[in-house]
Amino acid sequence: MNITLSSGKRIPVETHKVRIVQKTDLAPVTRRLEAIGAAGYNTFLLRTRDIFLDMLTDSGTNAMSDNQLAAMMVSDDAYAGSESFYKLADVVKDVLGFSWTMPVHQGRAAEHLLAKVFIKPGDVVVMNYHFTTTKAHFELAGATVLELFGDEAMNTQSTVPFRGNLDIERFAAAIKKHGAGKIPFVRMEATTNLIGGQPFSMKNLREVKELAAKHGIPLVFDGSLISENAYFVKQREEGYAGKSIGEIIHEMMKYADLFYMSARKSASVRGGMIATNKKEYYDRLLAWLPLYEGFATYGGMSTKEVEAMAVGLREMTDVNVAGISPQFIEYFVSRLIENGVPAVTPAGGLAAHLDAKRFLPHIPQSQYPAGALAAAIYIASGVRTMERGTISTDRDAEGREVFADLELARLAVPRRVYTLSHIEYAVDRLTWLYGHRDLVRGLRFVEEPPVLRFFFGRLEALDNWGAELARAFEADFGPDM
Ligand code: F0G
Repeated sequence: MNITLSSGKRIPVETHKVRIVQKTDLAPVTRRLEAIGAAGYNTFLLRTRDIFLDMLTDSGTNAMSDNQLAAMMVSDDAYAGSESFYKLADVVKDVLGFSWTMPVHQGRAAEHLLAKVFIKPGDVVVMNYHFTTTKAHFELAGATVLELFGDEAMNTQSTVPFRGNLDIERFAAAIKKHGAGKIPFVRMEATTNLIGGQPFSMKNLREVKELAAKHGIPLVFDGSLISENAYFVKQREEGYAGKSIGEIIHEMMKYADLFYMSARKSASVRGGMIATNKKEYYDRLLAWLPLYEGFATYGGMSTKEVEAMAVGLREMTDVNVAGISPQFIEYFVSRLIENGVPAVTPAGGLAAHLDAKRFLPHIPQSQYPAGALAAAIYIASGVRTMERGTISTDRDAEGREVFADLELARLAVPRRVYTLSHIEYAVDRLTWLYGHRDLVRGLRFVEEPPVLRFFFGRLEALDNWGAELARAFEADFGPDM
């Protein structure tokens, strides 16, 4: 919940208390320099022991509630017919309104099954914006991904509240150009990840659904960050302030023909699922489920996680659960902006994002400014962030580099994990780094995998800039920091 202090300052205050903790250490800057070098300047290849604050992702890293942990103790491990599944299916019906539920091991497994069942070579999949694994799966099945975002989507200094909207006119033009028969579905991604955690409005979702339905195109809803999108609708869209998160989610789901999610985010577990009211879709997907995931009542998930997911889905409809990460991010972004650090606005869900094109304007996209920024942040703070730019965009079929629309370094705020003093620490070190941004230069690949290269790719710092940055840091903060 947000609280206004007597001074007038607004701060997020937790409506939970911490009962289990995990120790973290701040490795000194010389160790951090060694660690990032050994990791090929790729934050994915760092080890937890070298990380102070892990802001790589909010996926599978949220603090679970006492009720989620308790539910795990009573899970039913039956291979088939597990009672844990039936509890999940009841909650899905209640919270999301769908009669047919299929657990899968995580979000990309749902994308794999959707691609397998619904996409033919030559198809065009329309979406507000892609996610890395979504695009890879759909393209592997032979489709082209068409991102029909609006004019504001790529403006990182915006005040527009719903930058995740799909542009209706562009959608109409795409239907005219390709024909509805070539579009297996339109995909709407809640709290659009790669645009900087930016939501779409209910109005936009309704309009997308109306146009799609007129042409017989199903709407697929990626709800990995569904509770945050509902929270933004409540905060930002006219007519929704008085509605509960549960009511807003119900309304959003009325427009979805098929829903899938990575439950690692809004639901705070490790798993995923597909849900629908169309039995025909369920049956077609179910045919492949045992081959790729597992039997219908566990779908590759641990039944402990299935139990915890049922609890997590219900808990995410609490406004203080849905809002905890957006409120911390709003505070984080406002502090960065106060200090002149180029953070993306408006603040969104899942993470605070830095605009690497503005942070490091001297580094061309061919030298990966967002990757360089993520590595520099680690050296200057021990905070692990994620590159969301050109490194996260694979080369095209001809092997040419594809420059990303946005070059972002993402500081994820996993739900209920970090405190305001952690955020203040990160703000301080990011501000220092911004003051020393001229010391940061580009990166070059030394090992480049062909698919999703950001996971395992190894790079090196041009002119060994990491060492220079570490020396400047040590001069200001001493050898122990
Ligand atoms: N869709 C969205 C919107 C996502 O953000 C993710 C994952 C997926 C699908 C894939 O789900 O990881 O469970 O297989 N996002 C994570 C992230 C990886 O760090 O943002 P998954």
